[in-house]
Amino acid sequence: MARGERLELDGARVLVAGATGVLGGSLVREFSARGAALAVAGRQSARLQELSGEFGAHTEFFDAYDLDGAGDVVARSAEALGGLDVVVVAVGAVAFGAAESLPDDVAEHLFAVNTLAPIALLRAALPLLRSGGAIAAITGVVSECPMPGMAVYSASKAALSAWLTAVRIEQRRRGVRVVDARLPHMETGFADRAVAGRPPRLPPGADLEAAVRRIVDAVETGAAEVG
Ligand SMILES: NC(=O)c1ccc[n+]([C@@H]2O[C@H](COP(=O)([O-])OP(=O)(O)OC[C@H]3O[C@@H](n4cnc5c(N)ncnc54)[C@H](OP(=O)(O)O)[C@@H]3O)[C@@H](O)[C@H]2O)c1
Repeated sequence: MARGERLELDGARVLVAGATGVLGGSLVREFSARGAALAVAGRQSARLQELSGEFGAHTEFFDAYDLDGAGDVVARSAEALGGLDVVVVAVGAVAFGAAESLPDDVAEHLFAVNTLAPIALLRAALPLLRSGGAIAAITGVVSECPMPGMAVYSASKAALSAWLTAVRIEQRRRGVRVVDARLPHMETGFADRAVAGRPPRLPPGADLEAAVRRIVDAVETGAAEVG
């Protein structure tokens, strides 16, 4: 496939990490609806089995703390699907509270889940992708507009966003696309699953299905950012 062309998702081989989450599950559904063959990675075996049953997806166990295992997840998914065209990361965790109130282990957790694990997965995927292939991650609007009460979460997402921006430039010659999904708040229950603190008053959630379609559209067209 020539650089700049549309990626044909019908028959494309797609790995979604964090597929057990709300956005991850919606991404799986949307990629499947466009004809992609899927591998799904996550921690909840029962949910992975459901996704396997519903979408015929290959399943992989993935815990964000196993950075060494990230390469194996990607390699085994590629083997199962006969290659990979797209890898999407929808893994994430949040914590709320003033910066001085959140202990270091919470910061470590958020950077492990939001920054290091996505980088490990996407880095492992890069050598396997051909021109026209894509990597994508959900960062969030906080990566460009950090929020009070969410300093560590914002910083962990901004770090991932910076990595994606640099990698996009690195991969330009190879024709591999890099999508940074800087999504606004959506009603997925994510904020209520915070590892620490309670969410502030949040604005009404944006349309989830529309956001998922924008991400998949960006993977198809090679758009760099999704808002
Ligand atoms: N919802 C929003 O308003 C919003 C806005 C902007 C960006 N985002 C980002 O979108 C992504 C998906 O969020 P969501 O709203 O769909 O929430 P979600 O349903 O809670 O999804 C979070 C996903 O991350 C996974 N995860 C968390 N900790 C993990 C760990 N230690 N190891 C492996 N996987 C782990 C969860 O796995 P389990 O199922 O095993 O828990 C789940 O698949 C996150 O990166 C989030 O930061 C969300």
